[in-house]
Amino acid sequence: FIVTCLLILFAYGLGSISGAISVCRCFSLTDPRKTGSKNPGATNVYRIGGAIPAVLTLVIDSVKGAIPVYLAITLSLPGLAQGIVALAAIVGHMYPVYYHFKGGKGVATTLGAGLVLSPYTTLFVTICWVLIAYKTRVSSIASISAAALAPLTAYIIDPSYTLIYTILSTIIIFRHKENISALLKHKEKRFDKPDL
Ligand code: G3P
Repeated sequence: FIVTCLLILFAYGLGSISGAISVCRCFSLTDPRKTGSKNPGATNVYRIGGAIPAVLTLVIDSVKGAIPVYLAITLSLPGLAQGIVALAAIVGHMYPVYYHFKGGKGVATTLGAGLVLSPYTTLFVTICWVLIAYKTRVSSIASISAAALAPLTAYIIDPSYTLIYTILSTIIIFRHKENISALLKHKEKRFDKPDL
């Protein structure tokens, strides 16, 4: 029990590190919270600094989701505890303790945690994300659609993870509420044509 609690705390602390803010600082780019969509995430870093900083952000934000889940599995924690550890890292990304609890939308961190938790579910959902993003050039449409698809995909591929994917998808879609209202007003930002 103590090990689980410590791992949850570790996951939250690690998840709170922002790939976007750190990478933008390293590349002397504008703070992602101050420009574009104002979201500290890989999409907005792409708008600000292009592919290399964006890929680095994606990698950092994914790895911080993957490490705690990997540890949870290595320590043979039960499935529910693994899911809670994943959730803690993702909540850390969304509500980071180091940045006044104002973080990102959790997509990359869910990708990292999900690849370790249920690789085939996550791979399938990620392929859907890439196809939708390629077709629409709007990251939020891809993220919301992929999140909506995840619970059913988990149910088919890895049923024991259906609950955790349902919870993760719900909070990811909730974190996209501003994107949804921008989409409805036809004002959502594309990632390839930054109107900063
Ligand atoms: O992963 C975040 C993405 O779905 C939306 O990002 O910057 O367009 O709000 P953004």
